[in-house]
Amino acid sequence: MGNQAALQITDLDVHYKDFQALWNVSLEVKEKKIVSIIGANGAGKSTLLNTISGLLTPSQGTIKFLGERIDGLPPHETVPRGITLVPEGRRIFPRLTVYENLVMGSYTPRTRPKRDEAMSKLYELFPVLKARHSQMGNTLSGGEQQMLALGRAMMSDPKLILCDEISLGLAPVVIKSIYRRLEQINRDGITIVLVEQDVKRSLRAAYWAYIMLEGKMVLEGEPSSLSEEEVKKAYFGI
Ligand SMILES: Nc1ncnc2c1ncn2[C@@H]1O[C@H](COP(=O)(O)OP(=O)(O)O)[C@@H](O)[C@H]1O
Ligand SMILES: [Mg+2]
Repeated sequence: MGNQAALQITDLDVHYKDFQALWNVSLEVKEKKIVSIIGANGAGKSTLLNTISGLLTPSQGTIKFLGERIDGLPPHETVPRGITLVPEGRRIFPRLTVYENLVMGSYTPRTRPKRDEAMSKLYELFPVLKARHSQMGNTLSGGEQQMLALGRAMMSDPKLILCDEISLGLAPVVIKSIYRRLEQINRDGITIVLVEQDVKRSLRAAYWAYIMLEGKMVLEGEPSSLSEEEVKKAYFGI
């Protein structure tokens, strides 16, 4: 069971009007695993995650989640299926409290009745959010805001979390603590896709890595099998 594919993407093309941002992208993520996608700024990482979550529609190719086609489904149909995006730049609600931000994460008919239970579980995982539950989002530090973004994603009771540059702009000690939470979430059975520019940390957490360059997948493998040289070449295209 653990080897079943949670996510299966085949030959995906995505355009912004005339500009083609993804070219023939394929990838597979096994259930309950962590996969890393790395690539320089502009490689197409956010485009890929936004297409999986349904913010963008592919012009070609298929996306299957737990065996079902989901390409072209909007977020209000992918979220109830268990797919949640932690967007680049956090996008928390600055003028809502921590509690209210978290409530916004559990708006589907499936999760709403279990909100209080989910909230207590979440506060155990993120004691800092509990301590700050009545504070406005914009009074939190960068790291706390990122925890809140991740916590809000957890409130939708996801099976798959897509994290877009979760460590961007944070101090190493904060990044470490966020990655510890991610690994704990993964141990509880949630599949995770990490998109990062920071190569080292995300490779360490993953069982499989993909490297993107200019809208294409250029290299993949077990992180331990990829040489630093190979990764550098793929990442920079030199
Ligand atoms: N809304 C948009 N309209 C047009 N082009 C875009 C848009 N968003 C991203 N792009 C372009 O698509 C490519 C991939 O961008 P993106 O997916 O954001 O890369 P990454 O997340 O890896 O930095 C880049 O060339 C970028 O300029
Ligand atoms: Mg991006």
